Amino acid sequence: PTDFTLKPHPTISKGEGPLLVCVLDGFGENKIKDDYNAVHVAETPCTDALRAVPGRFRTLKAHGTAVGLPSDDDMGNSEVGHNALGAGQLIDQGAALVDKALASGSIFSGEGWQYVSPAFGANTLHFIGLLSDGGVHSRTDQLHGCVRGAAERGAKRIRLHILTDGRDVPDGSSLKFVEELEGVLAELQAKGCDAKIASGGGRMGVTMDRYEADWNIVKKGWEAHVLGEAPHYFKDAHTAIKTLRKDDSEKPVSDQWLDPFVIVGEDNAPVGTVQDGDAVVIFNFRADRVIELSKALEYAEFDKFDRKRWPQTRFVGMMQYDGDLKLPTNYLVPPPAISGTSGEFLAKNGQRTFVCSETQKFGHVTFFWNGNRSGYFDEELETYVEIPSDTVPFNEAPDMKAREICEAGKAALRSGKYDQVRINFANPDMVGHTGDLAATVHCCALVDQCVKELLEVVDEVKGRFLVTADHGNADDMAQRDKKTKAPLVQEGKVVSLTSHTLAPVPLFIGGAGLPADIKLRDDLPEAGLGNVAATVFNLMGFEAPSHMQPTLLA
Ligand code: 3PG
Ligand code: CO
Repeated sequence: PTDFTLKPHPTISKGEGPLLVCVLDGFGENKIKDDYNAVHVAETPCTDALRAVPGRFRTLKAHGTAVGLPSDDDMGNSEVGHNALGAGQLIDQGAALVDKALASGSIFSGEGWQYVSPAFGANTLHFIGLLSDGGVHSRTDQLHGCVRGAAERGAKRIRLHILTDGRDVPDGSSLKFVEELEGVLAELQAKGCDAKIASGGGRMGVTMDRYEADWNIVKKGWEAHVLGEAPHYFKDAHTAIKTLRKDDSEKPVSDQWLDPFVIVGEDNAPVGTVQDGDAVVIFNFRADRVIELSKALEYAEFDKFDRKRWPQTRFVGMMQYDGDLKLPTNYLVPPPAISGTSGEFLAKNGQRTFVCSETQKFGHVTFFWNGNRSGYFDEELETYVEIPSDTVPFNEAPDMKAREICEAGKAALRSGKYDQVRINFANPDMVGHTGDLAATVHCCALVDQCVKELLEVVDEVKGRFLVTADHGNADDMAQRDKKTKAPLVQEGKVVSLTSHTLAPVPLFIGGAGLPADIKLRDDLPEAGLGNVAATVFNLMGFEAPSHMQPTLLA
């Protein structure tokens, strides 16, 4: 857009108080309402009551093509969810863009590929990323395509550094992904390309930290992938995973939390350290969990940990992860271009915004919300508050920072300083990812209580509210039989589901400042997260910009 002027809404006037926009991360509205739906099991009197208000509750699509993912089999995630919520537009997302670039072959003719190609002869080509078909951060089929494409185009020596998942996919599936990858590598070896897995570790403890919650995680990855140093050395990745999982022990370890490991050859030397002149590809398309590693690989000035050695590499990201930092400088596929977001419109129209979450989701309600843009649009008008997250497995302290976020939100609503107060509660999602049912039920109840307290303040200041979620997670904690939907049982125990779900999410509106005749429309059954931004503008007394998806108000 070139014109950023917002017009007053013809019938809805700006309320007396602020608008609360509240995202309950991972709080889906699942059709299956049994003992493994933590949202359903938890005591949630507040959201139960909201669900019963006629014309002010509905569900929204939060997965698949409705949020720009390649297919409707793709579960939603926080990146695409917050992009859609904040931008109000349907955006072809990273996963889809990489698919297209591979299908057309354009990935192999772009500038990024040209940048890494000179290393194909005498040097090594490294791939680092999440080995998973979850489609949230990366996909194995895309990795296979890139590795095969590199070998076909002359790469003589390829090394893979793999982070195991178990968070967007079932725990234990990493072995299958390693076997598939080994199959692809054997194919290449048969054609004379020396291709091997060189190092790895579980994504939650190795390499894939986000929002600078704990740089030590990246340090462990750096040591394993780049320096070839780790607490464990193995001859192959299969043995590494089998051994580190300790399946038969008292305390088995899940894929997410495997220790870092390095693969060594017959001579016991690491098979794939990163050296000067090598090329490095981070094959994740999603930004949040590879920005820190990108900085470590790219920045000459770097003080987050002692790199010991900083190899001069030809480094590319699958995408450019941060458009403002231009990081990395080189990348294989141009990222989705998101412009004209709700945040930019509000700032350009003098609207004051308060945003708060804890570290784990802070970038979600700021960076992702604002179309993958770092920082403020207008520092005078916006206040972003990050509450530091704990650095323990989240089911061990499942409240996370919900109380603190709630208090910050209440204070901002009461302050009279803001037109919009936007917050994200992280724990239904973060604890849902641990697979711990009881802890997740606890989170859903706590978040419900927080919403209750916030809505009381909304009423007190004659404000309005819009409460929703970015995708499902807590609403299903069990892996299920595809046909009957009955929970899968193994060795007498229900197999837990750590990933997001395909469920839609709830949308609740209301508040003492919302005129009684304002209701949700009923003619858009297929509406999704992309329809929220226009609704937010209306609730703030503005007409929505015309490039956004339609409002949900009647
Ligand atoms: C993660 O990065 O934690 C998961 O892969 C996805 O979770 P999120 O999309 O809710 O952040
Ligand atoms: Co999540």
